[in-house]
Amino acid sequence: MNHQDHVALLARGITQGEGGAWADLGAGTGAFTLALADLIGPHGVIYAIDRDRGALAELRTAFVSAVPQAELRVQVADFTRRLELSDLDGIVMANSLHFVEDKTRVLALVRGYLKSGGRLILVEYDSDRGNTWVPHPLSFETWKDLASEAGFVDTRRLATVPSRFLHRIYSALSLVS
Ligand SMILES: C[S@@+](CC[C@H](N)C(=O)[O-])C[C@H]1O[C@@H](n2cnc3c(N)ncnc32)[C@H](O)[C@@H]1O
Repeated sequence: MNHQDHVALLARGITQGEGGAWADLGAGTGAFTLALADLIGPHGVIYAIDRDRGALAELRTAFVSAVPQAELRVQVADFTRRLELSDLDGIVMANSLHFVEDKTRVLALVRGYLKSGGRLILVEYDSDRGNTWVPHPLSFETWKDLASEAGFVDTRRLATVPSRFLHRIYSALSLVS
């Protein structure tokens, strides 16, 4: 996938140039952080969280060399523990929730960081069968039920892209009521 594919997966969940405060949980080297930055534009702030310090250092470098966009704040942290985040307009979790077996507890934390009407955009492999590299993926159908159990509403698919690995990747938008 290239940058345009990353943008396309998020685009229908974000109004171009809307700004606001967003977090990317499990940002890694920033493929989706950069896409998010392009979409929210220069008036936004993005908290990029990952437990991998090296990946975040790469993300910082990539961000600096990209077109000036949203403000970036990186933080080395474990998103399965409570983070210092609140009143966010949105959260992106791209290919990171599948590392968590007990998703309910993490989703309760995630929901608590969002303001009323806030958005969670999930990007995941459309599969309920994991492997060594993707231990606990969840199909869109499973996500719909889980998101509802976790108190999110209006969960809908935004986009899908074919993947040689586990067939395809979807993005989905859920709201905090
Ligand atoms: C497959 S990478 C995805 C990176 C990026 N979101 C993307 O889609 O290109 C998963 C990332 O999630 C991070 N991660 C997994 N579990 C985490 C946790 N509990 N806390 C923080 N980061 C985590 C990993 O360190 C890794 O950088």
